[in-house]
Amino acid sequence: MPEVGFRPLRRSDFERLRSWLNQPHVYEWWGTESGPDGLGGPGPHAATAAQVAEEYGPAADGVDPTSRFVILVDGVPAGLIQWYRLCDSPEYGAAIGEPTGAGVDLLLGDPGRVGRGIGPLVIDRFLVEVVFAQPGVRRCVAGPDVRNVRSIRAFTKAGFEGVRDALVSGEPAPEHVMVRIASEPALGP
Ligand SMILES: CC(C)(COP(=O)(O)OP(=O)(O)OC[C@H]1O[C@@H](n2cnc3c(N)ncnc32)[C@H](O)[C@@H]1OP(=O)(O)O)[C@@H](O)C(=O)NCCC(=O)NCCS
Repeated sequence: MPEVGFRPLRRSDFERLRSWLNQPHVYEWWGTESGPDGLGGPGPHAATAAQVAEEYGPAADGVDPTSRFVILVDGVPAGLIQWYRLCDSPEYGAAIGEPTGAGVDLLLGDPGRVGRGIGPLVIDRFLVEVVFAQPGVRRCVAGPDVRNVRSIRAFTKAGFEGVRDALVSGEPAPEHVMVRIASEPALGP
C-alpha cells in the first residue's frame, strides 16, 4: 500500500483544490453548507477561485473551526480531509443525533486514485494520527449520503459502524451516520 501523510491546507493549494472540487466523482457527493449555488451540495457545478477562497480561506488562515488537510499519497497531494468538533455545529449535531465528538469528511481528487483502497487507509491513519490525538476526542462520526455506497464501504473498512440514518435540513437524502470509537488502528501497517 502507498505511504499516506497529511499537511495543513495552504492558500497555494487552492487551484489544485478547485480542480478536485470540479471532478464529477467529487461534486456528486461533496457538499458544504453553502449549498448548490456555492461550492457544495451534490450536483454539477463549477467551483470558482473566489468560491474556493471564501470557503477554504479561513482554514488556510487558521481561523476556521474545521481543520483541513491535504492528503499526501507517496508524497503527492491527492485530496482533502477535514475534521471538526460537533459541539461547534450544534444544529447539525442534533440533526444527526451526535452532539459531541468529532466529524470527518474527505475526498480523493484524482479519479485515477478512487476505488483502489486508498480511502480506508487515509481515514484510518487520519483518525489515529490527527483526530484521536486531540485532547478529549474519543468518538468520530462520518455522515455519507445513504446513496454513497463507495464512501459507506470505505468508512466501514476503516472501522466505522453505521448507527442510524438522519435527514439533515437542506440535504436531498438522509445521511448514513457512522461512528468509530478511539482504538488501535483498524488496518495494519
Ligand atoms: C469516498 C472515498 C474517500 C473512498 O475511498 P476509495 O479509496 O475510493 O475507497 P475504496 O477503493 O476502498 O472503495 C470502497 C469500496 O467501494 C467499492 N466501490 C468502488 N467504486 C464503487 C462504485 N463506483 N460504486 C459502488 N461501490 C464502489 C469498492 O469495491 C470498495 O469495496 P470493497 O473493498 O469491499 O470491494 C473516495 O471514493 C472519494 O473521495 N470519493 C469522492 C468524494 C466522496 O464521496 N467523499 C465522501 C464524502 S462522505
